[in-house]
Amino acid sequence: MASNLLVRFVSVIMLLFCGILIGRWFFPISDIHLYNSNDKIRHETLGESGIPCIVHQTWKSHRLLSARAQRWRNSWARCLTDCKHMLWTDEDNRRHIGMHFPWLLPTYECLNSGVQKSDLAKYTYLLHYGGIYADIDTVCLRDFRSLLSKSALVFANMDGRWLRSVNGSYVQNSLMASRPEHRFWMALLKRIVAKRRMNKAVGSTPPEQTTGSVVLMEELQQYLDDGRTDVRVFPSRYFNPFSWITAGNQGNPKAASCLTMGNMNEDQEAACVAAFPEAYVVHMHSKSWGGGKL
Ligand SMILES: *[C@@H]1O[C@H](CO)[C@@H](O)[C@H](O)[C@H]1NC(C)=O
Repeated sequence: MASNLLVRFVSVIMLLFCGILIGRWFFPISDIHLYNSNDKIRHETLGESGIPCIVHQTWKSHRLLSARAQRWRNSWARCLTDCKHMLWTDEDNRRHIGMHFPWLLPTYECLNSGVQKSDLAKYTYLLHYGGIYADIDTVCLRDFRSLLSKSALVFANMDGRWLRSVNGSYVQNSLMASRPEHRFWMALLKRIVAKRRMNKAVGSTPPEQTTGSVVLMEELQQYLDDGRTDVRVFPSRYFNPFSWITAGNQGNPKAASCLTMGNMNEDQEAACVAAFPEAYVVHMHSKSWGGGKL
């Protein structure tokens, strides 16, 4: 009881510290009408996986989406027709977390970079609504719904070796799919919060380690080690066939014509993508949060 009160007290102090108006918690999310509970039930799910066909993407605001990012986003509507396509803005993300995960809001508000905030937001869409999450610099090449019909939780390896691996190579959080309310996401969010408590120097730690792919892989490895079988990690050639590690052919001849950091024009992009006939999705690795161009 006492520790419960203490937690509340600390949460309130953190909120004030971060300069949040608590009243904002109660603002209605702008598109909540799309996602009332009836809607969740009505929405078609993919096979026995329970994954609803909702594609979640996020960017600062609708207004700031570049022509190229809009073209990439359109690829999703073309690939996955009849699915719901969401573009969550920073404002939507904060409202969504405040409304459905108020315990997470102090952590969210205190994260000091947009990329860390969007990492947290991604996990909460999948936890609450389920569906497919795709980074704004991913391009859908062809429909992959049939691949999502068996497992409740889906990830993809990235081409190249870096930092750590799960089932073959690095797993990015740039493309993920899940049924709603999957226990994995709550475990991951709790791990992130716990890690932050332990690591006061979070501001100088790379986002991969604190909220991104590295902490995701820690939880995923734990999940697999626990013997769980409802998860699938697809090989890189399907969903993330080149990366900043292999672009320009650093160990993968197929990636010879690819560039990252937003350095390909439309023709170069087409030539790069053509080298991966097996791919359903490519991640362009614009790394707009790290100086790249979107
Ligand atoms: C790990 O990779 C192997 C070989 O590609 C595959 O058969 C297996 O299903 C993968 N495991 C998971 C959990 O996806």
